[in-house]
Amino acid sequence: MCGIIGYVGDKEIVPVLLKGLHCLEYRGYDSAGIAIHEGYNLNIIKSIGKISKLEEVLKGKKRKESDRNNCGIGHTRWATHGEPSDINAHPHFDTDEKIAVVHNGIIRNYQEVKEKLISLGIKFKTQTDTEVIVQLISQNMKDSRSVLKAISKTITELDGSYAIAVLFKNEPDKIYAVRKEAPLVIGIGIGENYIASDSTTLSQFVDKVIRLKDNEITIISKNGVELYNLQEEKIKKESQIVAKTKDILDKKGFKHYLAKEINEQAEVVSNLLKDFLPNSKDPIQFNYLKLDPSFLKNLDRILILACGTAYHAGLVAKHVLETLTSIPTEVQFASEYLSSNAVLTNKSLVIGISQSGETADTLAAVKKAVSKGAKLLGVTNRADSEIANLAKDHLILSKAGVEVSVAATKTFMAQLLSLYLLAIYIAESTNQANKTTLTNLKQALRELPQLIDQTLLRAESYQEQIVQYADKPDFVFIGRGIGYPIALEAALKLKELSYIHASGYASGEMKHGPIAVLDPNVPVVSICIPGENYDRVIQNSLEAKSRSAPMIAVAVDGDKKADSIFNTVLHIPQIAEIVSPFLTVIPLQFLSYYIAEHLGRDVDQPRNLAKSVTVE
Ligand code: G6P
Repeated sequence: MCGIIGYVGDKEIVPVLLKGLHCLEYRGYDSAGIAIHEGYNLNIIKSIGKISKLEEVLKGKKRKESDRNNCGIGHTRWATHGEPSDINAHPHFDTDEKIAVVHNGIIRNYQEVKEKLISLGIKFKTQTDTEVIVQLISQNMKDSRSVLKAISKTITELDGSYAIAVLFKNEPDKIYAVRKEAPLVIGIGIGENYIASDSTTLSQFVDKVIRLKDNEITIISKNGVELYNLQEEKIKKESQIVAKTKDILDKKGFKHYLAKEINEQAEVVSNLLKDFLPNSKDPIQFNYLKLDPSFLKNLDRILILACGTAYHAGLVAKHVLETLTSIPTEVQFASEYLSSNAVLTNKSLVIGISQSGETADTLAAVKKAVSKGAKLLGVTNRADSEIANLAKDHLILSKAGVEVSVAATKTFMAQLLSLYLLAIYIAESTNQANKTTLTNLKQALRELPQLIDQTLLRAESYQEQIVQYADKPDFVFIGRGIGYPIALEAALKLKELSYIHASGYASGEMKHGPIAVLDPNVPVVSICIPGENYDRVIQNSLEAKSRSAPMIAVAVDGDKKADSIFNTVLHIPQIAEIVSPFLTVIPLQFLSYYIAEHLGRDVDQPRNLAKSVTVE
C-alpha cells in the first residue's frame, strides 16, 4: 500500500508535497516523509504518525531562499516490512546519502538481495524492504553507464510489486520513477510535472495524466517527461485528460468524512439509477457492457471475488443473482480463491468487485480466474484502476465519487446497486425471470433514494438509542438469507471503526456454538425484516434473549412484535425483503460511527488499516 507523490516545478515544494500526501493518506498513515534537494544536499524529513505530525516537524525547519530547489518526493506509509517508526518511515537513503527512494508495494526477494548486499559490505539501517531498492540502485550505479541503466538493472533484479520514485543528489532537477503491479501516474503540467499513486490526487493539480505500465521508467523534470522501457529505449505515450475531482478533502460541514459519506448515499443511488435505470419499464442500460447474450445463456457458473466490504456486497449479489437467474453463483474471498482449486471454464463468469480497483488480492485472484478461461466482469469505483483496465469491455463503474474515509459506506451502497442492476441485466438478457418480477424489482429500486433519505434523517435518533451500548466489549450481529451479509458487514464496520470485537452470524447458526458467548455484556443485533426469513430470525433472537443478551433490532416501522421483544429497535421505513439491504445497513453504519465517535476513535483513519490494500 502506501502513497507516493513527486513534484518538480516552480511552486514551493513542501506545500505541494503535503497537499498531495493528504490526498493519498487513505493509502496508509503509519508514517510520512519527504525528500527534497536543499542547496547541494539531498535532505530527508520524516516522522512516525500521520501527515499532520510531519507537518509539525516541517514547521520547525525553515528553508533558506538560496537553497530552494523545487524538486522532491513524498510518501505516506502502511507498514509491511518493519514496524511503524521514524527510522522505517520513507524516504530511504543509500549509505552515501546520494539517492533517496520512496516505495509502494513489496519486494518479495528482499531478504536474498539484502544478504547479497551485506556480503558486499553494505550496512542496513532499517527493517524495510525498501532500503534494499535504494542500496541496490547505488550498487548498480557503480558499474552502469547511466542512472537509467542502474535503475533498469535494479528492476530486473527485484521480484515483487512496486511503484518507486527516486531522487539523485547529482540530478537535482529530476525524478526517476517506475512501477510494476502497483499504481503510478504522471501528472503533466505547464512548466511543472508530477507523479502520484492515483490520478484523483493529480486532478487537484493538473489536467492531463500519463498512466505508466509495468516496467516503464519515467524521468520527469520541470519541462519534460521522458519514458523508457527496460531496454532503455525511449517510448512514447499519449497523455489523457484527467477527470477533475473537486476538492476531495472538503468535509462539507460534517465532523468526519465518514458522516459525510454515509449521508451521500441517497444521492449516490439516485445518480446510478439515472444512468442505468431511468425508468422501470425499459431494460437496464449498460450500454458499454459487451456481454454476449448467448454467453450469458450458456453460463455454467458465476464466481464473485472480492475482499472486505466488497465481499459482503458480493454475498448479497449471490442471493439476487440466484433468485433472478438460477445460475449457480459462488462468492469467495479473493485471498482464499488464490489458495483454492475452484473449477472454472470458458463458460464461467467471474465478477471482481473492488472499490479501489487496486486491491492486490482481488487483482491476483481475477487474473488467476481469467487464466482458467473465465470471462471477467469488473465492478469498481475507479475508472483508472487496474481492475478497470483488466475488465475493459465488461466493466460497471459504481460512480460513488471519492470516498475518503477508510471504512467503506457509500461505495458499498453503490456496489450493491450495481450488482442488483447486473442481476436484472443478466435475467433480461437470458429471459430467465418473470417480467413482472423484474418490473417490480426495478420499481422498488427506483424508490430507494427517497427511502434512503428518510432513513438518513433518523441519524440523531439512532445516536440516542445506540450510545448506551458503547461500553460493551463484544457484539453479535445476526441475519438470515439476504440479511446475513448485512450482519457480516455491520460486524466488520464496528470492528474497523470502534475496535470492539464483533461477529456476524447466520442467525440459525447461533445455536450451533456462538450462543455460548452470550451474556448481559454481549448485545445481539438482529436484522429482522418482514418476509421469508422474518419468523425464523425472531425465533433465533428469542433464543438469544433467553441468554440475557441485550437485544437490538433493525426492524421496519410499525413492527409491533419487534417493539415488544427487543430492548432497542432501530426503525427503518417499510421495505420489501429483496431490497432491504439498502436500508438495513444504514442504522448499522450509524451504530458503528456513533459508538466509535463516543469512544473517541479516529473514525476516518482507524488504526492499522488502509483503504487501498496493494499487498497480498
Ligand atoms: C481494505 C479496506 C476495506 C475494503 C477492502 C477491499 O481492507 O480497509 O474497507 O473493503 O480493502 O477494498 P476494495 O478497494 O477492493 O473494495
